[in-house]
Amino acid sequence: MPDWTECLNFGISIAKQAGEVVLAALQDQKDVDLKSSPADLVTETDQRVENILIFEIRKRFPHHRFIGEESVAAGGRVQLTDCPTWIIDPIDGTVNFVHRFPFMAVSIAFAVNKQTEFGIVYSCVEDKLFHAQRGRGAFLNGEAVHTSGQEDINRCVVVTEIGAERDHLSLSTMTSNIFRLLKLPVHGVRALGTAAVDMCQVATGGADAYYHIGMHCWDIAASAIIVQEAGGVVMDTDGSSFDMMSRRVIAASSLAVASHIAQVVQAFPCRRDDDDPSSTCGAESVGKL
Ligand code: IPD
Ligand code: CA
Repeated sequence: MPDWTECLNFGISIAKQAGEVVLAALQDQKDVDLKSSPADLVTETDQRVENILIFEIRKRFPHHRFIGEESVAAGGRVQLTDCPTWIIDPIDGTVNFVHRFPFMAVSIAFAVNKQTEFGIVYSCVEDKLFHAQRGRGAFLNGEAVHTSGQEDINRCVVVTEIGAERDHLSLSTMTSNIFRLLKLPVHGVRALGTAAVDMCQVATGGADAYYHIGMHCWDIAASAIIVQEAGGVVMDTDGSSFDMMSRRVIAASSLAVASHIAQVVQAFPCRRDDDDPSSTCGAESVGKL
């Protein structure tokens, strides 16, 4: 069995370097372009950081493949094969980056035979490096982390995201999901503006659950294994097995909480990330801010 620790260690070092590039650009004036909606933003830094990551990884591992948010936005294809594949979000939380709302992360997952071997989330403003390797636990800055283990939905803090969709059906579904959860009741509903960091809150027990409809594989591939290795449960919002391409996820402290959320939330239709080359939301551009 290959041991992917060399790749993991390399990924951790370049995630930190990428985070420094993001931090260095945080206070700068930004030139912002729009992708699939008026709330789906991209900056020169997103593209630069992704290019740096892919360039450095390719230099070291020339046969590995990539799924990168900005490469897909530029017309690349989302194709997860059995080959070693790095799944990259150079900045998860681009709206936060543009507004300097202080939560954003470099997210890097690595999959072989379509199975995630490790995930790295570097929340650069907080200087928090989360990582997990399959079967070896989850860590925050080198210290083991664990989910809360909470089983009672009425005692949960639930994190979610509003996402970039602004059409009527998506917005009404999202707001009614929040309404139904609050009515259960739960202790609170939160949103940090970055799916990767949100899910890492579940991994550390700061939140008890996370759900999201409409995100992409690069937003959640790394944090999904971090939650699982921290003792949590990751599934589809319809209660089926987690599928990183489905655009739907629940990550929770326990099966009981994940299943409860699956019963409460409804999904709006989203094309799978791996549907076809032009299907992903990031592939079309609606203009400039
Ligand atoms: C976004 C963030 C945000 C979520 C969106 C994602 P990006 O990723 O994770 O929290 O609501 O659905 O697309 O575009 O900043 O990488
Ligand atoms: Ca991004």
